[in-house]
Amino acid sequence: MRTIKNVNFNGKKVLVRVDFNVPFDKQGNISDDTRIREALPTINKLVSDGASVILMAHLGRPKKGGFEAEFTLKPVAEYLSKLLGKQVVFTQELLGKEVSDLASSLKKGDVMLLENIRFYPEETKGGEELAKQLSLLGDAYVNDAFGAAHREHSSTAVIAKYFPNDKYFGLLMENEVVNLNKLMNNAEHPFTAVIGGSKISSKIGILESLLDKADNLVIGGGMRYTFYKALGHTIGNSLCEDDKIQTAQLLMQKAEEKGVNLYLPCDSVVAKEFSNEAETMYIDSMDIPDGWEGMDIGEKSIKQYCEVVLQSKTILWNGPMGVFEFPAFAKATNEIAKAVAKATVDNRAFSAIGGGDSVAAINQSGFADKVSYISTGGGAMLEFLEGKTLPGIAAIEN
Ligand code: 3PG
Repeated sequence: MRTIKNVNFNGKKVLVRVDFNVPFDKQGNISDDTRIREALPTINKLVSDGASVILMAHLGRPKKGGFEAEFTLKPVAEYLSKLLGKQVVFTQELLGKEVSDLASSLKKGDVMLLENIRFYPEETKGGEELAKQLSLLGDAYVNDAFGAAHREHSSTAVIAKYFPNDKYFGLLMENEVVNLNKLMNNAEHPFTAVIGGSKISSKIGILESLLDKADNLVIGGGMRYTFYKALGHTIGNSLCEDDKIQTAQLLMQKAEEKGVNLYLPCDSVVAKEFSNEAETMYIDSMDIPDGWEGMDIGEKSIKQYCEVVLQSKTILWNGPMGVFEFPAFAKATNEIAKAVAKATVDNRAFSAIGGGDSVAAINQSGFADKVSYISTGGGAMLEFLEGKTLPGIAAIEN
């Protein structure tokens, strides 16, 4: 891999694409800083080499084509300054004389963050001119934005062509690729994939791909109701993607043909309405009555799922088991977090976790340092595991 590890960047201006697309709480504070912290090894390596570092990043999906206060990266620059223990230069512009003057005046070890690159609509269109203008700011290009590697944007992919001999993977990116390759090509068995989340449509690709890799597919979250319906059960007011019922049937059929154990929750916690305070009931079957909606998997399923996890040597977890954002329905997700950590520590299983809610759950559970690897990618991780070529990776490799 063309990584920064064995290269000395002393005296160079290095353009680094990072993924600082982090969530904020209602008070405007960063509520999960994983992506920022995980970018530190690359930034620190470049700083200690004596490079000046110019960071490019996006936040959210601004649509207006220009500055939008809601999506400014200023708070991220302030946060990063605290983590690095030095002032990060923040530019309100991305291009133009002011920015190039600032870039030229950077000294060895200085770090600068450009404002949200998506304030330029060309970015998401993969605009060549934007990529070219950005490339003029640096002597080398490093892609450390694994979370955005599935996007063929100016700063994530197109820009690489302007650095044919000076383009590299950052340390975060390298770590992601090494770990995900291990999972897909070199997994010890039994290999269990715990897949949750609300929609089967966003997980079809990964489920298909896992049918050739995993021994156990453990299904939770809102997407289970589409499977229930495919099996002829009632689902009350629960989520269902009716146009994916056939897909669910096919997935179950393929799992059987390939000898993969596909687990569906055998019981549920249901509620009268979609709220943390709603009236709840336990259902000891796969049939959810009219007027109720499934909110979490039940005790028997939790026990069974944790047992499967604890018997595994490789574990992939993506997606919550229930409506995790409501504490009343977070039990199963938290129990899975505990089981994954226990399997890693006690049984030396290799465990990989990805997707915003599962990462938040493992962080909240206090077991984050007990699992093998936490991915910073949501969509990027899914696409990688589906076997797709990610433009951000291909641009460095080719
Ligand atoms: C993510 O949060 O998954 C990445 O930062 C990519 O963001 P996007 O889905 O808006 O391209």
